[in-house]
Amino acid sequence: MKVTNLDERIHVLDSASSVMSVITEIAESGLQEEAFYVLDIGDIVKKHQIWKEKMPRVEPYYAVKCNDSLIVIEVLASLGIGFDCASKVEINKVLEVGVDASKIIFANPAKPASHIRQAAAAGVDTMTVDNESELHKIKKLHPSAKIVIRIRCDAEVAQCQLGMKFGCDPVYEAPTLLRLASMLNLNVVGVSFHVGSGCQDPPVFYRAIGHARAIFEMAKEIGYKPYLLDLGGGYPGDKGTSIDKIADVINCALSEYFPNDDVHIIAEPGRFYVASAFTLATSIHSKRSVRSDKMSPHSVTHNMYYINDGVYGSFNCLLYDHQHVTPIPLKSGCGKMIPSSIWGPTCDGLDQVVENMLIQDMDLGDWIIFENMGAYTLPVASPFNGFPIPKVHVVAEESVWLLLKDALPLTEDHFVIGTTPANLRLGLDIGGSKADQWAPPPVDLNSSGIINDPPSSPFIYEYVEVEPIN
Ligand SMILES: Cc1ncc(COP(=O)(O)O)c(C=O)c1O
Repeated sequence: MKVTNLDERIHVLDSASSVMSVITEIAESGLQEEAFYVLDIGDIVKKHQIWKEKMPRVEPYYAVKCNDSLIVIEVLASLGIGFDCASKVEINKVLEVGVDASKIIFANPAKPASHIRQAAAAGVDTMTVDNESELHKIKKLHPSAKIVIRIRCDAEVAQCQLGMKFGCDPVYEAPTLLRLASMLNLNVVGVSFHVGSGCQDPPVFYRAIGHARAIFEMAKEIGYKPYLLDLGGGYPGDKGTSIDKIADVINCALSEYFPNDDVHIIAEPGRFYVASAFTLATSIHSKRSVRSDKMSPHSVTHNMYYINDGVYGSFNCLLYDHQHVTPIPLKSGCGKMIPSSIWGPTCDGLDQVVENMLIQDMDLGDWIIFENMGAYTLPVASPFNGFPIPKVHVVAEESVWLLLKDALPLTEDHFVIGTTPANLRLGLDIGGSKADQWAPPPVDLNSSGIINDPPSSPFIYEYVEVEPIN
């Protein structure tokens, strides 16, 4: 496959480079104004190695909704992973990369009719169901579908609960669905569940797998031969987290309830694969120093920093995914620690990234880094108020390049060797790289009284503290 989009090319790092050195080089070029991501595909490869080692019986079907960047899908496809899609657009995206329809599960229990038709036409047969009307719909639109009954079994603690929306009761509703499916002459092939995203209750997997076993037995009594168990998502993916406990519970439950290899075990991990692979770099474009101590009117009591990405962009994850983010100043500092808040660029008061934390005093043009920004960020982001969604700069170590350069759909063409500054800036919105870009006529800002020297770059101005006006 020929790579046509240069933004998506993977930059192979030399042994002296790392994600942080790439961020520093781009940020300190003085030419980069917008926020940007660095995606390390080696991190995704490492996650896959961990998954295979910890849960060898469970085949991952990556949940595309978590981060649908083309390069993520290509890398995962090159590793031979399957995909969980929730819509016809996601299905098409995965098929276009060259993934076989049999490696896709349509794991949305409430599917619009045209999406089912599209799945049928594309040969995506396996799909989840948790209600009677969906069975009738499938009977009409894709009668040869392979149906997976999605049951509800909620984690006691999870970042995002899903059970209030999806999953039938395994005891009261699942048997009714099995009987209806049989009456409609539909093919039930297995059971799925999703315990909740960001699961912090590993034993829930044991309970859910136990329920699935019982439904397998019921299905057999009705005359089905179920062969698919889908463990859904819920696995953590941030740096420093581990799937060890969940894997122990799953392996143990599988050997108790599904000891034989006649059942194909899959899962739908999302955040596990991508959370830690994406690092976001933002810069401070505005700063307000609050002096609210009447006894000491000159001293700053709180700094408000305005950065170039916010809750309408990548940090939508604060609202929708209940994430917590940790700002890391790029210049690790000697500055004074001051209570501070960090705000996004839009005009909305809701657009707050960090409410209050002690952080070193920073200036306009300084960069703040956020790790673990790969899950449920980019696909949900909007350019509200005219602030663009950050672009992604993709990197890989040489060993990862050697591993993946011929692993279809990846090819040699996907990679750029060498981290020359020109290469590093490829795909980012660095000043001067786009010849046709409109540029405003130079404006004389000196008269405003806050800008002293002419700026050294088109974007970053010197900031001069002035005495507060009483
Ligand atoms: C059906 C389904 N599968 C898988 C996932 C991925 O879950 P996670 O990112 O927690 O692994 C989700 C997330 O909402 C989902 O709805």
